[in-house]
Amino acid sequence: MVQYAVYLENICFSYEKHVVIKNLSLRAKPGEHIGIVGDSGCGKSTLLKILAGLYTPDHGTAVIAGEHLPENIRKQVALVMQNNSLFPLSIRDNITCGHDISDETVWAACQNASLANWIEKLPNGLDTKVGERGNQVSGGQAQRIQIARALCKDAPVILLDEPVSALDQDTGQSVLAALCKLTEGRTVIHVTHHQETLDDSYTIYRMEGGTMAHGCT
Ligand SMILES: Nc1ncnc2c1ncn2[C@@H]1O[C@H](COP(=O)(O)OP(=O)(O)O)[C@@H](O)[C@H]1O
Ligand SMILES: [Mg+2]
Repeated sequence: MVQYAVYLENICFSYEKHVVIKNLSLRAKPGEHIGIVGDSGCGKSTLLKILAGLYTPDHGTAVIAGEHLPENIRKQVALVMQNNSLFPLSIRDNITCGHDISDETVWAACQNASLANWIEKLPNGLDTKVGERGNQVSGGQAQRIQIARALCKDAPVILLDEPVSALDQDTGQSVLAALCKLTEGRTVIHVTHHQETLDDSYTIYRMEGGTMAHGCT
């Protein structure tokens, strides 16, 4: 039997009585890249939160990197969201999330996320505070900090929720280039409004009515 990195079988999920995910199945083999498109409000972010082990389905089976329990699933995935998910702490703390990670590893992640040149020029370097809601850094830098965090976590499954949709086109392109370093060789579920930003490695699915429409768009 093929070992899937992502295995969802007939899952359902509701907020209170509002059913958002209905009998949804999705499978990804290790290293597979899947793009998910769909109208606003159709449940894409909810699906990613289930895949991240932040929500538990009401029904159905969810196995991520061989793990069934949400607390174990959370160790196997790294999530990059649209924006506003930096902590009001230093750049280093935002990247390590308090884990004991060597400076060498943090700098390697910064290099791969194209952050190193900027951080080297800051008077306080990695100890620079990024402020409430990350508002002392640009949108592109905030996304790169999230990418560096995901690179340090070194999780096998990467979940991307419209990671460039809040950025202008040039910044978005350079963040996408940094994302390639993160997604290479890993299983990726990438939710996007901009299907054209996904390269040929992606299989595209469309979400409709809380489930996965058949076939590619
Ligand atoms: N925390 C929440 N509590 C209640 N309803 C929510 C919550 N988050 C999202 N929803 C609702 O669930 C539906 C799907 O939302 P979401 O997963 O964010 O969709 P998408 O990411 O595709 O835009 C929407 O109707 C939204 O209003
Ligand atoms: Mg969303």
